[in-house]
Amino acid sequence: MKVAIIGQGYVGLTISAFAGEFFEVIGFDNIQKIVNQLNSGISHIEGVESSVLQKWIKAGRYKATTLGSDIADVDLIVIAVPTPLSKDRQPDLTFIDAACKTIGENVKKSVLVINESTSFPGTLRKYIKPAIERYSTTVVEHFYAISPERVDPGRGDYNQKNTPRLYAGLTPEASEKTREFYSRFCDELVEVSSPEVAEAAKLFENTFRQVNIALVNEFAQITNALGISVYETLDAANTKPYGFMKFTPSAGVGGHCIPVDPTYLAAVAEEHGAPATFIRRANEVNLEMSKYVVDRVQADGGGSLQGKSVLVVGVAYKPNVADVRETAAELVIEHLRSRGAVVTWHDDVVGTWHGESSAPLSGADIAVVITKHDVVSERDILASAPYVFDTTGKVAGAKGL
Ligand SMILES: NC(=O)c1ccc[n+]([C@@H]2O[C@H](COP(=O)([O-])OP(=O)(O)OC[C@H]3O[C@@H](n4cnc5c(N)ncnc54)[C@H](O)[C@@H]3O)[C@@H](O)[C@H]2O)c1
Repeated sequence: MKVAIIGQGYVGLTISAFAGEFFEVIGFDNIQKIVNQLNSGISHIEGVESSVLQKWIKAGRYKATTLGSDIADVDLIVIAVPTPLSKDRQPDLTFIDAACKTIGENVKKSVLVINESTSFPGTLRKYIKPAIERYSTTVVEHFYAISPERVDPGRGDYNQKNTPRLYAGLTPEASEKTREFYSRFCDELVEVSSPEVAEAAKLFENTFRQVNIALVNEFAQITNALGISVYETLDAANTKPYGFMKFTPSAGVGGHCIPVDPTYLAAVAEEHGAPATFIRRANEVNLEMSKYVVDRVQADGGGSLQGKSVLVVGVAYKPNVADVRETAAELVIEHLRSRGAVVTWHDDVVGTWHGESSAPLSGADIAVVITKHDVVSERDILASAPYVFDTTGKVAGAKGL
């Protein structure tokens, strides 16, 4: 079976690497540089080993391409393109639309189209299917299914194989074909009654995390006001063996999912006249954490940050990955600079960001830890400045949330 994966980023390349063991995979991406790199056997995604890509390339089971015509004879297509927010923070389906165009214009025979991109309930039925049909130059009846992606880049314990996978087709045949595909490389498949349930479940999973992160971020402000340790209090609450799940405070939430997906749910809720108050407020609380962190640093620094050299430690959105999408470091740096601080950042995992390079981990007046990668030691962080404010709870001896 020949499979096309549209989008060769975190999700698409990860799926490609797993699927390469069983199928001939065409990795379609619209960025030529990424395609060239992949065809030379170099992975740009954490968790996808270059050696695996090289193995599939050598076996003739993986090829990356920017040419739509290369997907004309495939049997199955997975859509794994970005679903960001527009400037006015509304769901932006332009990448999905472009993927549908590629499929519609190039695929003339009946195939199974599976969407793995995260989007609001109804996307498969009301958006993807009509768009592909609109772009098709021949009349062809495809099969359509959704299987939301749950991959957590950088995670060692759960992967494509052992993370249960939700799926639903628009028709029973589409469901059956979807099951056949994933059962080759996923241990547990969970069929739900409609694509809308699968789409909504994915959004709720991430909304659950967003709301709980906001709650613990607010709680960190309460415990600080009360003069008690948030971490000790959370550990104490976590001794309850049921009915409690521990989340930890931070400078905000980052990545392509948690700050974005809940807004897809809120948008569709409000469109249907249902409230989305928790989602909207959680978003605000998480965004406001960056200001809270800088307020605390400023207060500890005698009320002014003017002219102080501040080193932000860790700008990736989470430990041990180079991904800076929606990172809380961005807002923290903005607040620090707006108050006159001279800001540099240290993150050798990220390397370069916004045209700036990672600075040495030393010599600052103030260090603010946003993300602590395993390769960065607590001792080096503590030695980087006379005052260290830690938002991660991982630097013992520093001031913190
Ligand atoms: N990253 C995650 O951890 C994660 C987890 C679960 C779900 N998701 C969802 O999966 C989807 C993809 O996310 P991602 O993190 O892989 O994004 P990504 O930005 O890492 O990768 C997307 C890739 O798609 C390519 N692309 C964009 N438009 C294209 C087009 N029209 N044709 C072909 N390629 C195109 C981009 O060049 C990029 O390489 C999103 O909906 C996201 O919400 C992501």
